Amino acid sequence: MLAQARIALKGQPRMHLARAEIGPGATAGLPYAPGTFDLITCTNALHDLLDAQAALSGLRRLLAPGGQLVLEDFARREPPFPGAVFAWLLRRIERNRVHAYTLGEAQSLCERVGLQVAGGRAFTIDWFWHGWVVRAYRV
Ligand SMILES: C[S@@+](CC[C@H](N)C(=O)[O-])C[C@H]1O[C@@H](n2cnc3c(N)ncnc32)[C@H](O)[C@@H]1O
Repeated sequence: MLAQARIALKGQPRMHLARAEIGPGATAGLPYAPGTFDLITCTNALHDLLDAQAALSGLRRLLAPGGQLVLEDFARREPPFPGAVFAWLLRRIERNRVHAYTLGEAQSLCERVGLQVAGGRAFTIDWFWHGWVVRAYRV
């Protein structure tokens, strides 16, 4: 991902890329001061986080007041899509422990860590992959 970003952002003078691991902790385990960012995006990664609520709480602290978090991921499929089939296919594709959230669950997680949810939208990618995006603010 970093190698692709380096190519895509080539020539941008203020680009800074860093490898970091999101985890629990005051600032989600990231080496930045609280209130550093006006915008944080997290795409297709929430399902990988062991403690998503703790990580989101840390990301909230990294936002400046009024700062925005845009969270996007694939959605856990719900009935009538068979849950066991979804879980089995996901295990085969991801090959490690993942937890896929629904749009509603993602919005609740944001609210639980004190973010104000400003919008959420579900979308369809294909017959198997559905996704959602949530926009939330630190008030
Ligand atoms: C499905 S890929 C999505 C990559 C990219 N964000 C995109 O949307 O194309 C999931 C990414 O999350 C990263 N990831 C998983 N757990 C992470 C963690 N705890 N901290 C930082 N990155 C993590 C993986 O290394 C991988 O690059």
